[in-house]
Amino acid sequence: MATRTKIDPFNIIIFGGDGDLSKRKIIPALYFRFTENQLKLPFTVIPVSRKMSDLRTFIDLVDEYLPKTATAEKKKAFFENFELANIPKHTPEEYGKLTEIIQRNPNRQNVYYFSVPSSAFGEICSCLGQANLINDLSKVVLEKPLGHDLESSTAINDLISSYFKEKQIFRIDHYLGKETVQNLMVLRFANHLFERAWNAENVESIQITVAESLGVEKRAGYYDDTGALLDMVQNHLLQLLCLVAMEPPATLDPDAVRNEKLKVLQSLRPMDKSSIAEHVVRGQYTRGTVNNDQLNSYLEDIERYESETETFVALKTYIDNWRWKNVPIYLRTGKRMKKRYSDIVLNFKEMPHSIFPDSKFPLSNKLIIRLQPEERIELVQLSKVPGPGGYRFQPISLKLDFVDSFDNRMPDAYERLIIDILRGNQTLFMRKDELEAAWKWIESITRIWKKQVPIKLYESGGWGPGDEILEEGTKWQTK
Ligand code: BG6
Repeated sequence: MATRTKIDPFNIIIFGGDGDLSKRKIIPALYFRFTENQLKLPFTVIPVSRKMSDLRTFIDLVDEYLPKTATAEKKKAFFENFELANIPKHTPEEYGKLTEIIQRNPNRQNVYYFSVPSSAFGEICSCLGQANLINDLSKVVLEKPLGHDLESSTAINDLISSYFKEKQIFRIDHYLGKETVQNLMVLRFANHLFERAWNAENVESIQITVAESLGVEKRAGYYDDTGALLDMVQNHLLQLLCLVAMEPPATLDPDAVRNEKLKVLQSLRPMDKSSIAEHVVRGQYTRGTVNNDQLNSYLEDIERYESETETFVALKTYIDNWRWKNVPIYLRTGKRMKKRYSDIVLNFKEMPHSIFPDSKFPLSNKLIIRLQPEERIELVQLSKVPGPGGYRFQPISLKLDFVDSFDNRMPDAYERLIIDILRGNQTLFMRKDELEAAWKWIESITRIWKKQVPIKLYESGGWGPGDEILEEGTKWQTK
């Protein structure tokens, strides 16, 4: 969705430069864009580290996250554009080092990437402000979690807004950079066939699943304070839902798209006591086997005797507007599930009348938009099994597999998002009002759900609980 505007010379200053996200995602994304000649102009990557003072140590640290194809020559050319800033504390004195590096090229745009907990945003902004390092060309990139409720999220937004204008702020949701998610826009708005059927008249229900086989890994502290609803639903799943459910925007202009997404969030039916009790399931993983590995329970993983934090959530909701009137929307996400896979499924309504009364299968279609592990669009339809005799049916799929159809490497979401930031295209980034609307709806659940919905334990390596919220005749998509 990025418009092809040119990239001005830039510095990208990564706070938390030696942190996990930077190593795993940001630096490799920059590497790919550099080697694919998209970062041709003069640029400098400035990882900011509290502990590290030597660029060589930094390069050794990130080396293992670069692709196997990275030759010594390519890496040398890439890292020549790096300067490390060792800033042990956020004080105006320490920021002298950063000022010195930035001032060498005073006309470049500076992109400040906050890959640190939001509790550090205030000090960083204040030091950048005092050092006169923020101007109209600057941009700021914010990683989630942006708060833990509406109030704290508003406080963070207010703080950032006192240093940067909204058009300079890029709130990342990396799901919006995934290739299939991008393709959803094309599927819907460049293909007449689907858009005609994309409404309550034709769609029986919508399911969005993001299943992960991993547990909480090394993020026990963060995760136990957060849980699946805030870690995944508040952002990734709601953003996917916005793209599935929104009205066609008039243009691809960032605000045209975000206005439509906002309307979806504002139309989500708020939950109350009874809908929470009936339509929301919370789960927590216990021991089990994933890919033949015997795995610990959540409590063992976080080394605590008890915790009420959910590692799984499934819920049913509705979008109260004309297009989606009374269409159940199912959202489900969990850790330690059978395998890593995510998809969006549109279950279409059955034919109004059947001339095949013996069919064992409902006469309907299903559109599956698979995000991961493979990226694919699949249309499930009924077909006649070849041979004489009566009609025997079998569901078969028309598949569009992106890997088979395109030779290109599938770029990571961060590659697209970083290029969009450098170009100043905000289409794939959340606007302040979108975030607020998402929090408002989430708060209709969090305010009361812990009393209404007890945690259900589920075995690692399964599909988790949640069947009870499905309407009769509906199943969770599991592969
Ligand atoms: C992150 C969550 O935003 O998304 C993690 O904090 C989760 O808990 C991750 O594992 C999933 O992202 P992906 O791209 O691997 O599906």
